[in-house]
Amino acid sequence: MISFSRWLVLILSLGVTGYGLYAYLALPPGTSVHPDMKAAYAAHPGRIVAHVAFSALALAVGPLQFFPALRARRRLHRGLGYLYFLGVMGGGIAGFCTAFIAYGGLVARVGFGMLALVWLWTALAAIHAARRRDFEAHERWALRSFALTFAAVTLRLYMPLFFAAGIAFEDFYPVQAWLCWVPNLILLEWMLLGRAKAQK
Ligand code: HEM
Repeated sequence: MISFSRWLVLILSLGVTGYGLYAYLALPPGTSVHPDMKAAYAAHPGRIVAHVAFSALALAVGPLQFFPALRARRRLHRGLGYLYFLGVMGGGIAGFCTAFIAYGGLVARVGFGMLALVWLWTALAAIHAARRRDFEAHERWALRSFALTFAAVTLRLYMPLFFAAGIAFEDFYPVQAWLCWVPNLILLEWMLLGRAKAQK
C-alpha cells in the first residue's frame, strides 16, 4: 500500500470509528439512523452496542498494521494484532446477531450475515497462519480481513452517492449490504493476483 493510501485508509477508518463510538456509546443507539433501525436497536440494545464497540476497536487498530515502521516493531505488531482479532471476534459475533434485526429485509440480512461470517473466518485464518509462522499467508488473510473491516467505511461512502442519485434509502440499503464488502474483496484479490504475477 503506498503511503498516501495508508493515511487515507487510516483517516477514513478513524472517522467511522469516531462516528460509531459517539453515536452508540454517547447517544441513545440509533439516534442518527432511520426510525425503523432506531426501534430495532431500542428493542435489542445489547447486540448493537457490543457490535459497534468491538468493531470500532478493529477499525481503529487495523489500519496501523499496514504502516511498515509500526509493523517492524514485532511485539507492537503482535499486540495490536491480538487487539484487532478481539475486535473482529466480538464485532463479528455481535454483527451476525445484529444481522437478524437489520433494516432492509432478507436481502440486507443475508448480506450482513454473510459479511459477518466471512469476516470471522478471514481473521481466524490470519491468526492461524501467523501461529504456524507462514507469514506470507498471514499477510494475505490479514489483508482480506481488513478489506472486510473497511466495509464499514465503504458502506458510508456509497450512501451519499445513492442519495445524490435520488434513490430512496429503503431501495438502496439492501444493495449496500452486499456492495459494501463484495467489491472490496474482489479488488483485493485482483491486487494480490497482480502482486503474485509480478513476483514470478
Ligand atoms: C465487517 C463486518 C461487519 C458486519 C457484519 C456488520 C454488521 C452490521 C449490521 C447487521 C448492522 C445493523 C444494520 C441495520 O440495522 O440495518 C450494523 C450496524 C452498524 N455497524 Fe456494523 N458491521 C460490520 C462492521 C462494522 C465496523 C468495522 C464498524 C465500525 C465502527 C461498524 C459500525 C456499525 C454502526 C455504527 C452501525 C449502526 C448503523 C449506523 O449508525 O450506521 N460495523 N453493522
